[in-house]
Amino acid sequence: MASVTSLATALGPLALRTPLVAMSGTVGSVVEWIASTDPNAYGAAIAKSVSLDPWPGRPAPRVAPTEAGMLNSIGIQNPGVERWSEAIGPQLSGMSLPVIGSAVGNTVGEYAEVAKRLTGAGVVGVEINLSCPNLDEGRMFALDDTASADVVAAVRSATHLPVGAKLSPNSEDIVNVAEAVVEAGADWLTLTNTVWGAAIDIETRRPKVSGVVGGYSGVAVKPIALRCVIEVRRALPHVPILGAGGVRRAEDVVEYVMAGASAVGLGTAHFESPAIARRLVKRLRRWLERHDVANLSDLIGIAV
Ligand SMILES: Cc1cc2nc3c(=O)[nH]c(=O)nc-3n(C[C@H](O)[C@H](O)[C@H](O)COP(=O)(O)O)c2cc1C
Repeated sequence: MASVTSLATALGPLALRTPLVAMSGTVGSVVEWIASTDPNAYGAAIAKSVSLDPWPGRPAPRVAPTEAGMLNSIGIQNPGVERWSEAIGPQLSGMSLPVIGSAVGNTVGEYAEVAKRLTGAGVVGVEINLSCPNLDEGRMFALDDTASADVVAAVRSATHLPVGAKLSPNSEDIVNVAEAVVEAGADWLTLTNTVWGAAIDIETRRPKVSGVVGGYSGVAVKPIALRCVIEVRRALPHVPILGAGGVRRAEDVVEYVMAGASAVGLGTAHFESPAIARRLVKRLRRWLERHDVANLSDLIGIAV
């Protein structure tokens, strides 16, 4: 039996003490959430996405529970990178958890400017949320390999920090987009953002979220995100992957790692159980001991 297990891993240049990463949009700016959790259970946390100018977000209702998981239609409400940097930046260096910034934009130039200012604010890396409408084309960046690569190349030139590209399971050919953004300089890939979904309240005869179509997340999306991880791992075996979608048990973490993820995100699970990460770390260690595995990282991609 392995007596000392290690959960240490890395997302390219970013070393992580555990594979668990708190996902963007589910832990606020990290600052207001950190007191309610055990920061040592995480390798990193990704702050809510920020844009160049403030975005007001969509009207209520913005979230709705579903039979399995939830729908959200927040519209990436955020105060804009200037106010974010003033309010959050000074608190980042004292934090017992590395914080990755998340950049959004409506144009390539906006993404790059946000990444530059996040870098100045003291984050340890920049994740690019490509699930935003491209004002020049009218559809989301993540659906288009060239548009996604343009964003990543611009962000790459705007920061010296590690850069991650967060892709969408809604894209027709996620491998194609993955190859393009890696070529453009992404250090890791985050797979994936939410799946498009919808729900109707049959009493009010209205959609359950104001955007009508929202982002579907939680337990039911796991096989979809896991499929994306496997496809990308097969095509790009040396590119680090942050796998996310529907994780809530230690076994889910092991599954994502075996599929090819170097780190694994916790998102919707935080709404059910804010203290979930500490429990998962304990159970992960127990699982590794029982299966005589010394390093979780030895299992990365083992199933594919
Ligand atoms: C309420 C909510 C808000 C989210 N906001 C963001 C966001 O601002 N930026 C982003 O990149 N992803 C955002 N996401 C997507 C999550 O980071 C994650 O990729 C997705 O929910 C899948 O993981 P899960 O099933 O564990 O939640 C949000 C998800 C939820 C549920």
